[in-house]
Amino acid sequence: MGYYQTNPQFGNVSGNLDRIKASLEPIEADLLVLPELCASGYQFLSREEAYDLAEPVPDGPTTRRLLELAKRKDLFIVAGLPERCGSVCYNSAVLVGPRGFLGCYRKTHLFFEETLFFAPGDTGFQVWNLGGVTVGIMICFDWYYPESARTLALKGADIICHPSNLVLPNCPDSMPVRCLENRVFAITCNRVGRETRGGKPPLTYIGNSEIVSPMGDILHRAPGDQEHLCVVDINPADARNKAVTPYNDLLQDRRESLYK
Ligand code: ACM
Repeated sequence: MGYYQTNPQFGNVSGNLDRIKASLEPIEADLLVLPELCASGYQFLSREEAYDLAEPVPDGPTTRRLLELAKRKDLFIVAGLPERCGSVCYNSAVLVGPRGFLGCYRKTHLFFEETLFFAPGDTGFQVWNLGGVTVGIMICFDWYYPESARTLALKGADIICHPSNLVLPNCPDSMPVRCLENRVFAITCNRVGRETRGGKPPLTYIGNSEIVSPMGDILHRAPGDQEHLCVVDINPADARNKAVTPYNDLLQDRRESLYK
């Protein structure tokens, strides 16, 4: 499994997808995560601009092209995109695979100006069984809410796929804790580069995409300022051993009645 940390050009959806396709063509992997809003770019100036770049799911160009790639490469892909549904836009991520479209997650916890352009997601945290491995999705700032990763772990996720456009510095050092406290793998796929549109303060994306093990070990971390494609081998079963000690089962020992 792996990620492709990219530097999308704002608004150049087809060019950004061409680049993703060319880079993924030679790789061999079962599961690959792409950044949040991976083909549209992130720094929208208005709701209208976000709406114009948003796409229906699964019938929009981004999902269709990723689906073709997933089929040809026998690969599952998780990728962020602006989703249009009627008059509403969501900051979403799709999961596509060799046999077709599997589903869409709509970002629950919107960050900063996303709140101006997108509606808060209404799908909730979902998992998909891909035949022997269960994956869940959360998007970028969702990491700030430990409930996101916990909910996915409680639903049986072995691997959390985490498309991101991180600008704050804290996520890469925090994901090992999210993984340890849930005993799950995570693939955080961030972007790099800088966007400065319409006289707004620039946004600099921090890269440092990361694959973390259920023991909280960083298996791979990308550079902060360059595109980077990474694939590692993992054993998803490592995420199913929730025994912290012979006396402590991570999820079964939760004291839900005391958390209210
Ligand atoms: C973020 O949620 N894009 C920081």
